[in-house]
Amino acid sequence: MKSLDHKRNLVLGLETSCDETSAAVVEDGRIILSDVISSQVPVHQKFGGVVPEIASRKHIEHVIPVIDQALKEAKVELADLSAIGVTYGPGLVGALLVGVATAKALAFAADLPLVGVHHLEGHIFANLLANRELEPPFMALVVSGGHTSLVEVKGYNEFSLIGQTRDDAAGEAFDKIARVMGLPYPGGPQIDRLARQGDPKAIAFPRAMVHEHDFSFSGLKSAVLNYLNSMKQKQEDYCPADVAASFQAAVVDVLVTKTVQAAKETGMKKVVLAGGVAANSSLREKLAEALAAEKIDFYYPPLILCTDNGAMIACRAHYQFEAGFTAPLTLNARPTMRLGQSLG
Ligand code: KG4
Ligand code: ZN
Repeated sequence: MKSLDHKRNLVLGLETSCDETSAAVVEDGRIILSDVISSQVPVHQKFGGVVPEIASRKHIEHVIPVIDQALKEAKVELADLSAIGVTYGPGLVGALLVGVATAKALAFAADLPLVGVHHLEGHIFANLLANRELEPPFMALVVSGGHTSLVEVKGYNEFSLIGQTRDDAAGEAFDKIARVMGLPYPGGPQIDRLARQGDPKAIAFPRAMVHEHDFSFSGLKSAVLNYLNSMKQKQEDYCPADVAASFQAAVVDVLVTKTVQAAKETGMKKVVLAGGVAANSSLREKLAEALAAEKIDFYYPPLILCTDNGAMIACRAHYQFEAGFTAPLTLNARPTMRLGQSLG
């Protein structure tokens, strides 16, 4: 039984949508008491990408020990919690199911409210953990392995998707280019590192400025692949650092231009960066410069909060819980879902 006088506001966040098993305890929505992340990167590295079936099995092995450690580090018991938040989409269905089933079982056993969290809303809310004063409204650029989206965050529970990629996600393009260049998975950090030694103007790769706030990276991906193939056919040497730097510059240029444009058009005075690709050093630097020139405040999370983690899910769950958006024990995984869908 929960103690009746529990006054602390503690949310356990659970994240298993891809290849990280993570659990965290967050107090009052903003204070991280623990954030345990068990990464499967070394397991998937030899396959050059995430193998869904293996990811699900690894989540099953790790989920309970990770939760135990998160509670222990936060020095709390299940009975001290106010709610349990879990990512239920978008993501790999088998991977999501492990988190969802675990969260439901814990919620039922400990008689706690359950909150279903949208993974990308979690990424956006990582910024609220990094900057405790930050409040909506703001514009969010979400760049991850699976998504590239511009989201107007009008309130804690009010989202409006104003642009997204029509084909590949930014992170997907990074991973694909890295793979063909023989770099290990995940490719984003590898390209980022290599690009620092290269010339971003060495090769003029295309910048696709598709309609309004949408993005497209498949043309750029093909252009880089064609360049690499033609060099190979001609048996000419190319400079990998220049390819990495020129490719990265093309991605960053489009992301920066579109984000500044979207913020100006909507009159937003704050922009936040979110998702795995938010770790990219060039993107952070160029977006900071461009937004400063427009006198728009810029926020981005520390590297550890850019990757998939339970703390961002607990933070997001806190704001849903406060507004009464809890989920029934029939909650199911949703491999594809839209922003705001968990709000009914
Ligand atoms: O958000 P995330 O952990 O997973 C999804 O929700 O999809 O993002 C993972 C993506 C991968 O594509 C990875 O290559 C990319 O983020 N990434 C980066 C960097 N660090 C991670 N991309 C570019 N530069 C980085 N420094
Ligand atoms: Zn993610």
